[in-house]
Amino acid sequence: MIIGSLELFKLVSAGGCGVAAWALWRNQPDQVMRRSLNDVFIRGDLYYKMRGYRGRELRSYPRVIGVKTYIDRTEAAFKLPVGMDPSRITESAWLFRQVLGSGVELALADDGRTFSMRKYSGVIGAFEYDAESVAAALRNMRLPVYVGKSRTGDVAYDMVDHPHLLIAGETGSGKSVALRSILTSLIRQVGAKLELYCADLKRSEFHVFRGVAREVVTDVSGLERIVLRLQREMRHRGDLMDAEEVAHIDDLPADKRPPYIVLAIDEVALLKREKDVMDGVEEISTIGRALGVFLVLAMQRPDAGVLDGRLKNNLTVRMAFRHSDAINSRITIGSDEAARILDRDKGRMVFKLNGCEYVQGPHLTLAAARTLLNPYKNANAIAKPNVNTSVSDNDIIELEVL
Ligand SMILES: Nc1ncnc2c1ncn2[C@@H]1O[C@H](COP(=O)(O)OP(=O)(O)OP(=O)(O)O)[C@@H](O)[C@H]1O
Ligand SMILES: [Mg+2]
Repeated sequence: MIIGSLELFKLVSAGGCGVAAWALWRNQPDQVMRRSLNDVFIRGDLYYKMRGYRGRELRSYPRVIGVKTYIDRTEAAFKLPVGMDPSRITESAWLFRQVLGSGVELALADDGRTFSMRKYSGVIGAFEYDAESVAAALRNMRLPVYVGKSRTGDVAYDMVDHPHLLIAGETGSGKSVALRSILTSLIRQVGAKLELYCADLKRSEFHVFRGVAREVVTDVSGLERIVLRLQREMRHRGDLMDAEEVAHIDDLPADKRPPYIVLAIDEVALLKREKDVMDGVEEISTIGRALGVFLVLAMQRPDAGVLDGRLKNNLTVRMAFRHSDAINSRITIGSDEAARILDRDKGRMVFKLNGCEYVQGPHLTLAAARTLLNPYKNANAIAKPNVNTSVSDNDIIELEVL
């Protein structure tokens, strides 16, 4: 039969499409991973030997049962044939690294047969806070927050655009170090245009900001006073904006524009029973954005017992350090990614702003923060009230006169 040139063209094009589709499928990350794993099994002679018909040797290799790709890694699961010693896989970890690259982790499930393997596409190691490179990353922002490094570079955002921040994670995961580095960067970048208030109910962290922040308090009554002051200030700013007919303090004339205010609270869970304070904090979260009043709240677990739904919803930016389990991780970021952070990865977080990404926060020691903050000492702070800290309107008026 003679094939016409049109038919030939159609046949070749159909064949071409098939080949292209096959090539596309073959290069999907999960297919690449499946092939690489099978390659490891063959190169490493990782199979279970059986005797078949007439004593012929049969090889049963591990079977790849699933591959998933995430923002920063590929995860695969494979199952060993019954009878195969799992230590042959663990002893061949070097071969997995040789074939798949560094950043490979293997873990055996309780059934003694199923291995899960993670392959990180890049490793973001811990790094020390470097004031110069942080300053370079924060240029041209009004209220800059330095988050850290992702695989694609420095991560930072402007708090004026994304107002309220929630930092969560299990004990020792890096929350307080993150607070220290965020506030230190803010003070150094914004200077006198920032009024910073710190509440440190664990009394372990914020002493480094004494004399630099407007006020540092370590008890509930001190925080209550600050919250009342901020509520008054918000009313005042609202009146000002109303008189000038603007919708954001940034639109006020320069001579009337008040400074940005940041209230940072470490260990918010200790305020669980302080309804008045929490109501005030919630009010800030609801109306603070346009008035230039912002929140940074840190706690281990932002469950409903600590944060009420409305306040939590207003904390739109999230830094989720290691969480103890998937349920807690979902409470913070809506996915279980933060539970997959390893215990040894201090300062590693899932950062949620527009989507989620893994970020490594900078390590800023207390001593280094002290040195960086030294030039700013006593520039912003108001004198501490020298008598009792119980709350009354008189206290507030006195403070404002100071
Ligand atoms: N970004 C980081 N890089 C390297 N190491 C870090 C980092 N952040 C924290 N660490 C290490 O982890 C330790 C605990 O961190 P941090 O005090 O911030 O934990 P935390 O989450 O505030 O814990 P807790 O809830 O108990 O207060 C630090 O002393 C430091 O050694
Ligand atoms: Mg802490």
